Amino acid sequence: MTIKENLALPVGTTLDRFIMRKQEDFPFATGELSQLLRDIALAAKIVNRAINHAGLTDIGGAYGKQNVQGEDQQKLDVVANIRFIRALRNGGEVCAIISEEEEEIIQTGNQKGRYIVAIDPLDGSSNIDVNVSIGTIFSIYRRVSEMGGDGTLADCFQKGTEQVAAGYIIYGSSTMLVYTTGNGVNGFTYETSLGEFFLSHPNITIPAKGEIYSVNEGGYNHFPEGVKKYVELCRVRNYSARYIGSLVADFHRNLLKGGIYLYPNTQKSPLGKLRLLYECNALAFLVEQAGGKASDGMRRILDIEPFELHQRCPFYIGSTEMVEEVESLLVAREVRERTPVA
Ligand code: AHG
Ligand code: MN
Ligand code: MN
Repeated sequence: MTIKENLALPVGTTLDRFIMRKQEDFPFATGELSQLLRDIALAAKIVNRAINHAGLTDIGGAYGKQNVQGEDQQKLDVVANIRFIRALRNGGEVCAIISEEEEEIIQTGNQKGRYIVAIDPLDGSSNIDVNVSIGTIFSIYRRVSEMGGDGTLADCFQKGTEQVAAGYIIYGSSTMLVYTTGNGVNGFTYETSLGEFFLSHPNITIPAKGEIYSVNEGGYNHFPEGVKKYVELCRVRNYSARYIGSLVADFHRNLLKGGIYLYPNTQKSPLGKLRLLYECNALAFLVEQAGGKASDGMRRILDIEPFELHQRCPFYIGSTEMVEEVESLLVAREVRERTPVA
């Protein structure tokens, strides 16, 4: 091992420097992924500013339109979507983008771009108007189509295992960017007066077990039996229930403290609510890199074959032992429910 490899970058390193130093670990890297990560960080700063001003300007509140999934779009959803798309288009490394807020694949016109980005530009949008933490989630894939043409659906329908980088921004009591390129998870805190992200949470690892469960318990009566049983166990064990209603914020807390986030399927939503390509895959990649686990109850999230841009899936993510316990309850119950009584 060389001295350089042996040196961990210290807390306080700027994001730009960190990205540059990590790139040096790959002798054949072209720098395009590094630039792409910097484009995302720039858009994050712009969106952060818009969010901070939300209470002062006429930017809060409903936009009066619905997105492709029939949900009300907030003005900030639209602002964030525009800002990230613009930054990625201007950067030139991305040939196509898919966004939770857009029905179809977005061609950037950069046909020589090597990468595809999937993005949830504003996660937790019901919390915008009440000054509660919200976020952005992104996944980056290498294109599989020929360079020199538009991005294709085949580029977008890659399994989560094919992500080359993923991360989120949390606009919370402070703003943070947390990302992985498949070599651990690092978190950077935004210093507003300097306009820089600084390394604050190096090599994040999630405890194998925690005492926090995050689920919208209002839906309890409609949960699968295995999930009901798990929630009962959490209550018996006196675990803390913590549910913000912004996936990024709930995930971030559980990542740092240990815990589990559950969004099960129900009769009304047989595939759950969360989107595989914009939400689940990125967080699944991060949690695995931090030593945790993400499942749809039966399968590893990262192994699911996408077939639709806005595909949903049940989502259980967090500390490994906790996710495994849910899986075992779901499997046992499923099998029992399917076995005919003699
Ligand atoms: P989005 O704002 O991107 O549509 O995502 C909202 C998601 C997620 O952030 C959150 O955990 C979940 O919806 C909350 O759903 P419930 O209101 O059904 O609990
Ligand atoms: Mn979301
Ligand atoms: Mn969203």
